[in-house]
Amino acid sequence: MLEKFARYPLTFGPTAIEKLDRLSKHLGGKVELYAKREDCNSGLAFGGNKLRKLEYIIPDAIASNADTLVSIGGVQSNHTRMVAAVAAKIGMKCRLVQESWVPHEDAVYDRVGNILLSRVMGADVRLVDEGFDIGIRKSWEQALEEVKAAGGKPYAIPAGASVHKYGGLGYVGFAEEVRAQERQLGVKFDYIIVCTVTGSTHAGMLVGFAADGRARNVIGIDGSFTPAQTKAQVLSIAQNTADLVELGRDIVEDDVVLIEDYAYPAYGVPSEETKAAIRLSARLEGMITDPVYEGKSMQGMIDLVQKGFFPAGSKVLYAHLGGAPALNGYAYAFRNG
Ligand SMILES: Cc1ncc(COP(=O)(O)O)c(C=O)c1O
Repeated sequence: MLEKFARYPLTFGPTAIEKLDRLSKHLGGKVELYAKREDCNSGLAFGGNKLRKLEYIIPDAIASNADTLVSIGGVQSNHTRMVAAVAAKIGMKCRLVQESWVPHEDAVYDRVGNILLSRVMGADVRLVDEGFDIGIRKSWEQALEEVKAAGGKPYAIPAGASVHKYGGLGYVGFAEEVRAQERQLGVKFDYIIVCTVTGSTHAGMLVGFAADGRARNVIGIDGSFTPAQTKAQVLSIAQNTADLVELGRDIVEDDVVLIEDYAYPAYGVPSEETKAAIRLSARLEGMITDPVYEGKSMQGMIDLVQKGFFPAGSKVLYAHLGGAPALNGYAYAFRNG
């Protein structure tokens, strides 16, 4: 579905699929859990889901003759870390707006983890005191204007690389890759678990799996705590992406399966249950998830298995989208392990 689009390679190639034997067994052994390790997809600053999206955006940035990538996220945004890494790799400057999306406890929250890495990679990092919102932000539009006023040529990448015309393409590719791996491994996944916030990861998967009738088997676990906005954004990105790839079938509201139960108490704040899920997958599988995104989707998957949501014998693929560097900003929450 993606042949006609230019792609700038930023990843190592297909990501590994790993069976989570000990976690499956711990949860009763009736459901087989697997992880697709998008968190290990590249040598660029620890990698993660944004790189698949940026692979289809960067050709447009280069063609525009831009000299500065301009993007936005929270203080511990994985996305802005990835934009900083890509800017370094392709020889562009990088201007990042980091908003106060998370009420945090750690005094070093704005010094460690993702933001530390972005600074090390030379990005111009600016902190802005605005709260969480996945939509288009004034602070980001202002940053674009400031780069222009200083004589630069900005290229605009919105939060999560989501509300960009090509933002959904990368995860269409994920679905195609899973289909090829299913043939090699001789398995077929009944469900795909994905953490959803700005929406293009879920939207791309939905379009990619719609091609073989599995759109509604993509189970989004909301991490935003503003699920109505997130769901609407997934739908509009999926519809735009379906048009781009000429899917040949409409994507409708019911195709977006988003479970809202695990994002509490707020975006970026882990509940006791999220922390327990992070510890469990770390202690049984050595697999590190973070308190903002993957820990919440891990919590959701564990709870859904325990509730019997997946019929016995199901094969469930957890998309591990990255994000571990943010853990450094949560040292207090994990001070006792
Ligand atoms: C580690 C991680 N998981 C999940 C997500 C959610 O992806 P999306 O914003 O495409 O919904 C993000 C980014 O927002 C992320 O960095």
